Amino acid sequence: MANIVVSGIRPTGNLHLGNYFGALKSFVRMQEENECFFFIADYHSLTTHPTPGDLHGNVKTVLVEFLACGLDPEKATLYIQSDLPETAELYLLLNMNAYIGELERCTSFKDKIRTQPQNVNAGLLTYPTLMAADIIIHKAHKVPVGKDQEQHLEMTRTFANRFNRIYNVEYFPEPVAYNFGENLVKIPGLDGSLKMSKSDNETSAIFLADAPEVIRKKIMRAVTDTGQPDPSKPRSQGVENLFSLMRYFSDAFTLETFKSAYATGQIRYGDMKKQLAEDVIRFTTPFREKMLALAADESYLSKVARMGAEKAHASAAKTVREVREIIGFKHF
Ligand code: TYM
Repeated sequence: MANIVVSGIRPTGNLHLGNYFGALKSFVRMQEENECFFFIADYHSLTTHPTPGDLHGNVKTVLVEFLACGLDPEKATLYIQSDLPETAELYLLLNMNAYIGELERCTSFKDKIRTQPQNVNAGLLTYPTLMAADIIIHKAHKVPVGKDQEQHLEMTRTFANRFNRIYNVEYFPEPVAYNFGENLVKIPGLDGSLKMSKSDNETSAIFLADAPEVIRKKIMRAVTDTGQPDPSKPRSQGVENLFSLMRYFSDAFTLETFKSAYATGQIRYGDMKKQLAEDVIRFTTPFREKMLALAADESYLSKVARMGAEKAHASAAKTVREVREIIGFKHF
């Protein structure tokens, strides 16, 4: 039996290289042999963007980027989370069996208390139950995500198992975080941070849609270290990050050349950055070109979204109907 694969990405702007290597690349590969549901998590985006300037525009951006990266609406179901209100019902039902203590202990919630103390909303607290609803509404087995989502998947398993236990059924499978062919990944930022992220710092992330001159500028400004490179000391985080990025974009010979230049103390970070920038540009250019063409084709985009919503609805409505029966709701 084919695996059921489900995953989503929040529409908070353009997608960056972390989103691509952590998730999208796996989506594209997995659509070939699995039953896939990939969605744009616009409900989730309201937890951090309560008054979004351009919610619809951001959803459109991500849809365009999904397609430009190679997702095929004939192979995978591509939909917008808010086109599937069944998710909201399952979320409500799962919340009845989710405990405040476990939600408060979630790392992403604790991070948000720190980063947006002015808006610690209930949506942030129950973010993991909404995510669990997204996943188990299609009875998923595999969830392609980056390393930062591991704990959310752990909680999804907890909620799925708890449902099975409370109602004494074997209904929901146990979904696992997954990356096609590799371990879960975390792409580092250009600002020396461990995770490329657009919310921390605009200069941390390279977007798939960035023009070549923007990519060059961002990479040339990337954090390295100060003073002469000293091979006897461990590499600074900034330098380590440049090497990590090179592993994704540059060929083996180039990577080895810069590694040995570091080992002999002769590395010039400016040269390394120039090379990395050209390699990243070579990688992103075909995507950017496709995005420009797709963004102009409104009628195709709305056809894709409608088709996805219909297919997702068929799967989700069945689950919600069965869940209602299991819990014991009955019509008079
Ligand atoms: P989001 O929108 O923050 O990120 C989307 C995907 O990109 C991955 N990612 C990264 N991977 C590697 N390195 C990075 N620097 C990096 N930055 C982001 C994320 O791990 C994620 O896979 N909660 C989710 C959205 C969501 C979801 C779901 C995912 C909602 N419901 C159900 C899976 C299943 C999120 O905020 O991802």
